[in-house]
Amino acid sequence: MSDRRASVALVTGASRAIGRATALALARSGLAVAVGYRSDPEGAEEVAAKASADGGRALPISIDVTEEKSIEGAFTRIESELGTVRVLVNNAGLSKDGLAVRYPTEAWDATVNTNLRGAFLCSRRALRGMLKARWGRIVNIASAAALRGNSGQSAYSASKAGLVGMTRSMAREVAIRGITVNAVCPGFVESKITAVAGDELRQRYIEMTPAGRFGTPEEIAGVIAFLAGPEASYVTGAILSVDGGLTA
Ligand SMILES: NC(=O)c1ccc[n+]([C@@H]2O[C@H](COP(=O)([O-])OP(=O)(O)OC[C@H]3O[C@@H](n4cnc5c(N)ncnc54)[C@H](OP(=O)(O)O)[C@@H]3O)[C@@H](O)[C@H]2O)c1
Repeated sequence: MSDRRASVALVTGASRAIGRATALALARSGLAVAVGYRSDPEGAEEVAAKASADGGRALPISIDVTEEKSIEGAFTRIESELGTVRVLVNNAGLSKDGLAVRYPTEAWDATVNTNLRGAFLCSRRALRGMLKARWGRIVNIASAAALRGNSGQSAYSASKAGLVGMTRSMAREVAIRGITVNAVCPGFVESKITAVAGDELRQRYIEMTPAGRFGTPEEIAGVIAFLAGPEASYVTGAILSVDGGLTA
């Protein structure tokens, strides 16, 4: 793709935190960005308005990654209002922590359906247009928890480790068609997910991280934007840790 301004990105779960920073970074790099939201249209409007104020183009878009109808509706609308999705960032995710022995089946299903199945369904839909264009970028937001275990996170770790496996296999399928598929594994980042942790736990997280601090959404977004950009054309099937050394 020579004209990056004609290119369209979809970021799922983009109304706050890592997704928000990613949508803004991609808009700054010249992409038209669909700002996916599930429950927070105002948050997505704010992100789209900020992207536009910075000179970019953005469209808030309702998309629940657990619902195939919602995914289809979102892609159809993006295609008619912005164009074919060439960059997909599977960022939507949730974490429901609990020890395995008492872990509810519903929580397992919700975690895997959102973090893994949702990323698969969105990728499958996006690949249609990318294969036709013979150009595409898929960036999956996994986690350090995909690479190391965390007590209380069997479901979350399993879903993110699954995402890593999916990334590697899908990358092999589509590399010959100019499409890259990579995963980013953030460590602890300031967001709603980590805000629920108390002071003691937060301190413990910081002590576990060689960099001695949490990451920022912008530090994750910068790596995602690199993977989505032209400079990363020969990077595929890569699993990139962005975690202050947590998994080093
Ligand atoms: N923060 C961290 O320390 C950290 C570390 C490693 C990996 N990650 C990963 O990074 C990604 C972003 O997380 P974050 O830290 O920015 O957390 P966050 O603030 O909780 O954002 C998660 C986003 O996902 C959306 N989402 C959840 N279920 C969805 C669904 N079914 N369909 C569409 N959107 C859905 C949420 O929207 P609603 O609230 O409207 O559902 C929200 O916008 C996640 O995949 C997370 O697992 C985060």
